Amino acid sequence: MALRFLTAGDSHGDSLIGIIEGLPAGIRLSPREIRRDLLRRSRVYGRGARQKVEGDHVEILSGLWKGRTTGAPVALRIPNRGRTGGGGLSTAPRPGHADLAGCLKYGLLEVPPVSERASARGTAMRTAVGAVARAVLNPLSVVLVSHVRSIGEVDADPGRVPIEHIRRRADRSPVRSADGRAARRMMEAIRTAEQGGYSLGGSAEVIAAGVPPGLGSHVEWDRKLDARLAGALMSIPSVKVVEIGDGLETHRWPGPEAQDVITVERGHIRRPTNFAGGIEGGISNGREIVVRVYAKPIPTSRKTLPTVNLRTLKSRRSPYVRSDVCVVPAIAVIAEAVTAWELLGAFLEKFGGDHIDETVRNLRGYTAALAKRNRR
Ligand SMILES: Cc1cc2nc3c(=O)[nH]c(=O)nc-3n(C[C@H](O)[C@H](O)[C@H](O)COP(=O)(O)O)c2cc1C
Repeated sequence: MALRFLTAGDSHGDSLIGIIEGLPAGIRLSPREIRRDLLRRSRVYGRGARQKVEGDHVEILSGLWKGRTTGAPVALRIPNRGRTGGGGLSTAPRPGHADLAGCLKYGLLEVPPVSERASARGTAMRTAVGAVARAVLNPLSVVLVSHVRSIGEVDADPGRVPIEHIRRRADRSPVRSADGRAARRMMEAIRTAEQGGYSLGGSAEVIAAGVPPGLGSHVEWDRKLDARLAGALMSIPSVKVVEIGDGLETHRWPGPEAQDVITVERGHIRRPTNFAGGIEGGISNGREIVVRVYAKPIPTSRKTLPTVNLRTLKSRRSPYVRSDVCVVPAIAVIAEAVTAWELLGAFLEKFGGDHIDETVRNLRGYTAALAKRNRR
């Protein structure tokens, strides 16, 4: 059975629920570990007042025996503490949200049945599910990091540093930037936007190291790893572009310069560059997986926009409810979680294993065979 998960819950409902099926047995899971990622998502600069209310505590309701997965479905619950403040939306769809299209689709005159479920509050559960995926990827030696590359007009350039440095710097930065100077300018831009009553978009990067060659497949369109990552990352609210490797740069270059050449050094195959972001033909090639997401500025801000009352069809301004100003640092963490989940799915397809020890054995056997072949 393939790895899968389902979520339920609304922005201002009792709680968010997630059910994960297909995890190998033997993985140590704790609410504390999952909460660490939830706090990385919520305690960043630019978020609104709700994040101060939400403690993002998570409960693991099933699927564990003595703290380790059993192979049975793992059910997670995140209580919603910030349940007030969702009113005032009733019949006026907000431009840039699912509100109008959702009301048309489901035959509604009131927005909450759509907005409650479409809300990015649901990304808390996506992050929790990703934290579980990361716990499985740990013994498989996969390391994931995320950092913010731009906010509004401010670009970050962390330079060519090991991903451990990127992770450490990003985790310490209120805007998840691995470039200290840019981080200060990003925070200034967010402050200015907040004072001016508008929101800011930006971009974030996820890097996954330790991914062996051979995840995903070229043989069918829906098995391609890049396609699967792109689809999943695009589902993050407000993400409008997904870039694999340096795609937004290389599409302008002459063809031969845009490829990662294959060289041999002392009998070992090498790929000196990684423009492809670790994926060629839909298959991981053994280099770091690099994906980037670009998010629009979120729709709600104090500068209200023209909309309509769905009951009277009279024009009005969109309602203002408490809102974030810039969610790009949060999106970096969510994208990291989403990437972890997709990579885990591809890992388990290739290496299987009802118990994590079996998965690890299968991975080791495969990498040993590859190393032998490389030495020929
Ligand atoms: C973590 C996170 C928090 C968000 N918070 C808000 C918010 O407070 N106000 C808002 O208008 N949009 C917010 N958004 C963006 C909207 O959820 C998103 O733009 C909307 O659902 C429409 O989806 P689309 O932009 O992908 O089409 C947030 C997005 C994320 C990822």
